[in-house]
Amino acid sequence: MSQSFIQQRTERTEWFLQDRFGMFIHWGLYAIPARGEWVRNAERMTNEEYQKYFDEFNPERYDPKAWAKAAKAAGMKYAVLTAKHHDGFCLFDSKLTDYKSTNTTCGRDLVREFLDAFREEGLKVGLYYSLLDWYHPDYPAYGDRIHPMRDNEAYKRDPERFGVYLDFMHGQVRELLTDYGRLDIMWFDFSYDDMRGEKWRATDLMETIRSIQPHIIIDNRLDASGEEGGSIYTNKPSVYSGDFASPEQIIPPQGITDNEGNSIPWEACITLNNNWGYSATDHTYKSAKTVIRKLVECVSKNGNLLLNVGPDAKGEIPRQSLDVLEEVGEWLRKNGDSIYGCGEAGLSKPDWGRYTRKGNKLYAHLLEESVGPVNLAGLGDRVKSARLLADGAELFVTRPWNASLYTNDAFFNFAQPEHYTYPLPDERNTVVEITLND
Ligand code: GLC
Repeated sequence: MSQSFIQQRTERTEWFLQDRFGMFIHWGLYAIPARGEWVRNAERMTNEEYQKYFDEFNPERYDPKAWAKAAKAAGMKYAVLTAKHHDGFCLFDSKLTDYKSTNTTCGRDLVREFLDAFREEGLKVGLYYSLLDWYHPDYPAYGDRIHPMRDNEAYKRDPERFGVYLDFMHGQVRELLTDYGRLDIMWFDFSYDDMRGEKWRATDLMETIRSIQPHIIIDNRLDASGEEGGSIYTNKPSVYSGDFASPEQIIPPQGITDNEGNSIPWEACITLNNNWGYSATDHTYKSAKTVIRKLVECVSKNGNLLLNVGPDAKGEIPRQSLDVLEEVGEWLRKNGDSIYGCGEAGLSKPDWGRYTRKGNKLYAHLLEESVGPVNLAGLGDRVKSARLLADGAELFVTRPWNASLYTNDAFFNFAQPEHYTYPLPDERNTVVEITLND
């Protein structure tokens, strides 16, 4: 693809790379069995066995306004909801299927309510759409590597009919793009084996999407979700390689660059416990401290964090998730300047933590106490001033006697005398805003 495509991608993703932090929401019928969103696959459930969850589905406490408020208070700037996951159940009122929330007891278009509520809070909105579909009769089942009926010969399907599924899938994407107002993100999931690229009629799909909502940004999973390739990793992306890479449950060790070393937009999607969909027994929640530090890690490598919640069958985000979000939000309220609009600092990683940067503002994220003054390697006389970001308090930029040998470096400390050691004001992550001379 041409340079202009990369140029357009840069323009489209500008807001996204400013915003840095979003909420992923995995929600659907699988919240009832409460064993994660792959339950049908793991337990090889037939459509009929899974039907009881459709018959029961009635999330009476679904209050998307409360979700939106929680996301906003957490400092998140955008959110992505599963409009359809692999099980094929649609949270929107699609005209192309009966397998949708409006036909369950709840009778509500959950997607529309989500979009309205999140837009009202000023958040950008996106929809996740599964390319896989374990409900549709023309999606490969027997012999597919992933389908719940992969070993069941009764589910042998005519490959000729895959086109019927593709028409349906393209039709649903068109519905989402035409009937639900302005969307900011389309998040496809996922490609595997030969199910990738043109197998999805991806060029055609991309052209449709871009013709309806040209500003929208799209992940890279029509092409390949893994690290193993996919053209977004090259400087010659294809039409369908998307606008950003989507590493899952990992923060790429070196950030993500193309084959020429240019940074490309990326977003790490990460769960709060170890499941995307609600799991009643998974209490392995990450702490707020971990989330704060991982968000910083993403930004320090030019990436975003899409942090997942899995609401329960009644429609509520688990308390444990809300507690973490609240604390992260409290930290971001004071330290957000070191995250939003920031990126890689162009300096090597310091011993005590990480840097992020925006122009001549360098943010030192201190994760570990220093002995004596805090070292800013290689910054010599480039430091104009230093403030504690959380409260604006002035810090001491000096080179005390015990640092006199290290003239290439700058130093600061939290109090006087400057050769002393002081505990970090915020043990989770103390941010110091350093104003550089240049
Ligand atoms: C996956 C999974 C999944 C989850 C996700 C999020 O590949 O299949 O259940 O939705 O990607 O990135």
